[in-house]
Amino acid sequence: MSLENPQRYTVTAALIYANGPIHIGHLAGCYLPADIYVRYLRSTGKDVAFISGTDEHGVPITIKAKKEGITPQEVVDKYYGQIKQAFSDFGISFDIYSRTSNQIHHETSQAFFTKLYEKGDFVEEVTEQYYDEVANQFLADRYIVGTCPVCGNPNAYGDQCERCGTALSPTELIEPHSTLSGSKPVMRATKNWFLPLDRMQPDIETYVNSHTEWKTNVAGQCQSWLKEGLRPRAMTRDLDWGIKVPLADAEGKVLYVWFDAPIGYISMTKEWATEQGRDWELYWRDEHTKLVHFIGKDNIVFHCIIFPAMLMAEGSFILADNVPANEFMNLEGDKISTSRNWAVWLHEYLQEMPDKQDVLRYVLAANAPESKDSEFTWKDFQTRNNAELVGIFGNFVNRAVVLTQKFCDNKVPVRGELTDYDKQVLDELAQFPDRIGQSIGQYKFREALGYLMDLARLGNKYLAETEPWKVIKTDALRTNTILNIALQISANLAIVCEPFLPFSAQKLCNQLRIVDRLDWQNAGRADLLVAGHELGEGALLFAKIEDDEINTQIQKLLTAKRMNELETKTIPELKPEIVYDDFAKMDIRIGTITEAERVPKSDKLLKLKVDDGMGGRQILSGIAKHFTPEEIIGKQVTFLANLAPRKMMGHESQGMILMAEDRDGKLALIAPGDAVWNGGGVS
Ligand code: MF3
Ligand code: ZN
Repeated sequence: MSLENPQRYTVTAALIYANGPIHIGHLAGCYLPADIYVRYLRSTGKDVAFISGTDEHGVPITIKAKKEGITPQEVVDKYYGQIKQAFSDFGISFDIYSRTSNQIHHETSQAFFTKLYEKGDFVEEVTEQYYDEVANQFLADRYIVGTCPVCGNPNAYGDQCERCGTALSPTELIEPHSTLSGSKPVMRATKNWFLPLDRMQPDIETYVNSHTEWKTNVAGQCQSWLKEGLRPRAMTRDLDWGIKVPLADAEGKVLYVWFDAPIGYISMTKEWATEQGRDWELYWRDEHTKLVHFIGKDNIVFHCIIFPAMLMAEGSFILADNVPANEFMNLEGDKISTSRNWAVWLHEYLQEMPDKQDVLRYVLAANAPESKDSEFTWKDFQTRNNAELVGIFGNFVNRAVVLTQKFCDNKVPVRGELTDYDKQVLDELAQFPDRIGQSIGQYKFREALGYLMDLARLGNKYLAETEPWKVIKTDALRTNTILNIALQISANLAIVCEPFLPFSAQKLCNQLRIVDRLDWQNAGRADLLVAGHELGEGALLFAKIEDDEINTQIQKLLTAKRMNELETKTIPELKPEIVYDDFAKMDIRIGTITEAERVPKSDKLLKLKVDDGMGGRQILSGIAKHFTPEEIIGKQVTFLANLAPRKMMGHESQGMILMAEDRDGKLALIAPGDAVWNGGGVS
């Protein structure tokens, strides 16, 4: 059951690890839907705290530090600033964007831990954990990989399998190895504090099952964990990066990152409330406050089971009303991947396409992976911009504004008597805000965006059918009525598009010279603009995107793909050393291929005639799969001239053509850079 019509909301968006920049997958999965939701709530007059920040602890940070050769602190400082800036430039309207390295967060999470400890909620246990004897440390979470016992993914982490989503502990991995040294870890005893999720299962089940309204992808994951049976989970780790465990006998131990991070939502709310002179407790302890967590699907277990279990144990906090997690967004037919640089990075997008925040917001919301994985392509980006934003939304607003300039002295004209059609259109207009709002309230952002565009379509249809540019020749009063209605629709669009397209909403308000902020309560009305009100300056809301802009982006991705292939290429090992005399025995020369034909019954061999400057010779070469006879004739090649002749498929071969082989076995001729004499030796 969901909280009905609350006035206060705490909305959180996942605290992303501060170990890399933001890409479109993060936006589509979590941050954009959260922002649309919050902007809508604010417009309806609700009291909202929109909380997020960076997660600065845990193994992902230390792994990154190691890779970049800098300290974990340097990693989080670098990315915190970059991520915060990119979100802000993209119009994600957090009330606070903080970080888990702040003092208040350390205190809040330690106090939380201490409270559970004192209440006796933890099970203290000495267990055998994996230890890397080469790196001299325990292997928690992502320091260890192995095969997932559930789905067989060979690269599952010690805390979770990213393929099937199962929450794991290192000892469940099949054939584990250390990501630090690659070595096979040994077992070593260590004490940790566990949350007995097994004992808490009935309460967690009651909570999860009371929310029949949760999205099916979320409920599905929850049910599968519950069915498997929850296991106790360690809330501490043997690591040196993180928040110190506030106990005397816990030297060298820190809080588990998934213990401290979600508490970050609370500490950040405290930080914000203090700045604002508000009472943070209302946002976390008042049962009339609706708590909503926006996350991506890989975070479901932590937000639907583990964090609620922590909150239940603590006892004084509200639990999430909903966790509208999205699935993943793919990019041009492939999974988005940070390590393979297969992504559209937000900070780069903002630099390369400045003032196009709303285009990306639109395309990501229209394609959001709400119920299943979705796909971003640059072609689709272009089409949606040109056909929908420019062609439908921009086109309607532009016509309404330009015609008003032209026929009505740039002032809102008086609305006269209404036709039945006018009334019908105003009636439809009145229904849109509720329809859009309801979809947003149910986390159906794609649907809501569809309705928003339907309103623009309604405007276009109205102008197409009433043709004010023709009517003006005979009936100025009727033209006034038509344009008044078109302008009212435009003003309504400015209100209801704001959650999705905040930059364009502002531009539209400037064009209509709407000075006071209009909110959702006003939407649907046909008197938002009074007769005589002078409009501002007209300007196009959206610009057409040309092919070359898109091609540049596609090229960039192709380059990333190529770089990747080069990087993942395995270089064959060196052969044993030789001396100069070994080399000097080989007589390598240049020649030109003068004839080439396939060897019958062989799909590999070409029979070549090579002009070797000494009367010519025949060489058989296993290159038929890579070259046609036609394309190879006339090419200069390098060949081994003193190789003992031998017979192949009944033909004599007098030497060997030298080739370079690429990673996937594709062959290339080794030709001299400049034309040289045939027969010339290579030394
Ligand atoms: N750092 C996690 C990630 O990037 C998300 C943490 S969300 C919170 O996947 F709950 F811990 F805050
Ligand atoms: Zn798995």
